[in-house]
Amino acid sequence: MKRLTWFYIAIGIAFVGVLPGLAADLSGSWVFRRSGPDGTSNDTYFRLKQSGNEVTGFVQQRLNLRKIDSGSVEGNKFTLKVTTMFGGQPRVTTYEGTLENDGLHVKVIPPAGGRGRGRGAGGGRFGPSEMLAVKTDEKEGLPPAKIPPPALHEVRYNGLAKTPPMGWNSWNHFHGQIDDPGVRGIADAMVSSGMKAAGYVYVNIDDTWQGTRDANGDITTNKRFPDMKGLADYVHSKGLKIGIYSSPGPLTCAGYAGSYGHEEQDAKQYAAWGFDYLKYDWCSASAIYEDSDMHAVYQKMGDALEQSGRPILFSLCQYGRANVWEWGPKVSGNAWRTTGDIRDAWESMSTIGFGQNELAKWAAPGHWNDPDMLEVGNGGMSADEYRTHMTLWSMLAAPLLAGNDLRTMSDETKSILLNREIIALDQDKSGHQGHRASQNGETEIWVKNLENGDIAVAMFNRGSSPAEIKAKWADLGIERGKKARDLWAHKDLADATTGYGATVPAHGVVAIRVSK
Ligand code: GLA
Repeated sequence: MKRLTWFYIAIGIAFVGVLPGLAADLSGSWVFRRSGPDGTSNDTYFRLKQSGNEVTGFVQQRLNLRKIDSGSVEGNKFTLKVTTMFGGQPRVTTYEGTLENDGLHVKVIPPAGGRGRGRGAGGGRFGPSEMLAVKTDEKEGLPPAKIPPPALHEVRYNGLAKTPPMGWNSWNHFHGQIDDPGVRGIADAMVSSGMKAAGYVYVNIDDTWQGTRDANGDITTNKRFPDMKGLADYVHSKGLKIGIYSSPGPLTCAGYAGSYGHEEQDAKQYAAWGFDYLKYDWCSASAIYEDSDMHAVYQKMGDALEQSGRPILFSLCQYGRANVWEWGPKVSGNAWRTTGDIRDAWESMSTIGFGQNELAKWAAPGHWNDPDMLEVGNGGMSADEYRTHMTLWSMLAAPLLAGNDLRTMSDETKSILLNREIIALDQDKSGHQGHRASQNGETEIWVKNLENGDIAVAMFNRGSSPAEIKAKWADLGIERGKKARDLWAHKDLADATTGYGATVPAHGVVAIRVSK
């Protein structure tokens, strides 16, 4: 009888332990499992330690461990706050909820202005807005053990990208919605729109094509890409080349399988399918490696591509960290991202584009700074802003990867992407990256020396009302212009032997080619 009483008291204590007003114990690992129908995973782990009313630990989204800055529990109600950096700004995500008998009931309050956009399974960067996380083993879901990257050596230059790569990439417009018919349609449109004739050649599939790994560890595709070899053959039959995407981490940024521990196998697979271009995106590698490991980690894929037996353009995507321009060429990188992700907005595009001046000296044939893909035609900017985008990227000798839906382009978008006189600045064989020659308030004049001795002069107005800009050739190191041509109006300019002045629209540009 006595024993039974103690038994009921014990049960009672255990039960009231999770009732409001009494201390619950959140300590341990809790998981909300969520995977998509096409091979993505987007699990959220709460790895918590409770001491009194204080909760410490981590919230883990896929493989990203984020430290809890402040956590508290009152009865069975808890609040956890996690700060992440986005575009250089701190943003706080709040997880609040209750501990119930079946687990943690969590409500996610994303940071103000945070991107909740769906990427792969299960909502955006912060997970879905409500979840039930169940208790799990401490070890479940932790990032795999670190495979030490190989010792540094130089990878032989693959001979590609003598001028900046040109083509199209699926991410900016389609995100996770790209599929085989879509890619074929884009390849068709690249030819029929005249883009192929203007120099665009790569049709690049970004994140979200992957399935799981088979019994041999070979990467498979998800159902949106039933036949990669067939797709590559199709794109090649149009006289174009095709690109693919992966990550040195176990998961890509959208939560699909990355190449971690399978680098050689994947490079061989891409070659067997017929791919000509790889964008290799750091993403979850940050859960395993430090930034100081990046050089060696990218070198591993550089080696694997070299050994694949197929020339594959190697595009590094690690958001400009670890001074990638210093070692990018040494891993046979043909281009390296210099910034975080671009958005289809003036603020994003102009901040990125006008911020590239200091990197000019690192650009050279075969090895290019990459300020991210084009947003031209995606609808978030005005035609003047898109002309600035196209001009600036060309002055920067940046990769020109269109990021819009080529199948439904307006004439205006075509006139921007197909401006051959601007494209010629980008594709100039000298491989120089242009630089800012002068700045006056919100107006800037950029200059780029071209192979035949001509000089490109771009007069940008970053202000929100029209501005007079005057360029004197003598100030820009040009002795005397024999001929000057407006590259957007497609007109030779009279009276421009010593300089040129124009009213430049808000957020717009006047681009001139001066012949000596
Ligand atoms: C990162 C890259 C983007 C795109 C996405 C795909 O954010 O910087 O360009 O590839 O991943 O998930």
